[in-house]
Amino acid sequence: MARNAYAGAPPPKPIRRVMDRDLTKEEFARYHDLIYKIAGIHYPSEKLELLSNRIRRRLRATNEASFDSYLRRIAQGSESKERQEFLNSITTNETYFFRCQRHWDHFRAWLEEKKKDPDTRRNGLRLWSAAASNGAEACTMLIVLHQVFGDGFGGVSVDIVGTDLSTAILDEARAARFRPYALAQTPPQVVDKYFTKADKDEYVFDRRLLQHVRFQQHNLMDKLTVPQPFDAVFVRNVMIYFDQESRERVLQHAFDLMRPGGLLIVGESESLLSVKHGFEYVKPSIFVKPIAGAVAKKPTPAR
Ligand SMILES: C[S@@+](CC[C@H](N)C(=O)[O-])C[C@H]1O[C@@H](n2cnc3c(N)ncnc32)[C@H](O)[C@@H]1O
Repeated sequence: MARNAYAGAPPPKPIRRVMDRDLTKEEFARYHDLIYKIAGIHYPSEKLELLSNRIRRRLRATNEASFDSYLRRIAQGSESKERQEFLNSITTNETYFFRCQRHWDHFRAWLEEKKKDPDTRRNGLRLWSAAASNGAEACTMLIVLHQVFGDGFGGVSVDIVGTDLSTAILDEARAARFRPYALAQTPPQVVDKYFTKADKDEYVFDRRLLQHVRFQQHNLMDKLTVPQPFDAVFVRNVMIYFDQESRERVLQHAFDLMRPGGLLIVGESESLLSVKHGFEYVKPSIFVKPIAGAVAKKPTPAR
């Protein structure tokens, strides 16, 4: 009699059907609303395929059977690990060093002024990289600070807070290991000075400078609690994902957390036209928080 090839072997695992289609329009709308409610992010309908791919990856990772059952799971558990994994998977973390050179030129000139101000020594400098991604922006701040103030920042206390919604990208930020792509806009002599070449085509950012940054998870839809106000806030290339109401909310939070006279830099393509905010326009995508009672030197265009 022929022997059963499976005799004694564990029974084969049931094969789970993997979701192999995109979200329907109705499913997309339900996900859209949840993402908007949690993170203020507006996924346009052209991104249906992208969002479907991103969610399918979570379905595979969690063995969840359908888009609907996964949605129910993440909608319920506001503190759950899977809710966070979901948020990690739907964010876009594109960033690189010295992104938008014009902003860095302005930041450098602003620091030169701060260097001359005796208050800077007394109070130190506190900066916020809001939507920090993998930390390239916060580390660029540190490079420019070091170039202007020198070793030990010339005795000025420097604290940078880098925040992001995604815990996965913040783990990368803390590791401070960068691919050549992130350094494509960085002059080679700056790379030599502030990075060590590691294996696998990675560059490790200067550890002594990195001590001045604290990375923490934060949703820009919520208030951030800080011990002292910020002197400068960079909130770049994240408001493109927000609608007007969410943008106003983020700008109001930033405003409340800044010193009068503080510098605000937003993304180059993020027009604040028709967005209500209390900042004074300096030049495209660069603003200051007005000093109470100060007279604006030039008219402030509504952007
Ligand atoms: C395109 S990156 C911009 C990084 C950097 N600011 C720059 O300009 O290069 C956008 C970042 O915003 C983060 N993000 C999206 N929604 C957010 C929210 N509601 N709160 C905090 N961060 C958010 C994403 O996780 C992502 O890392």
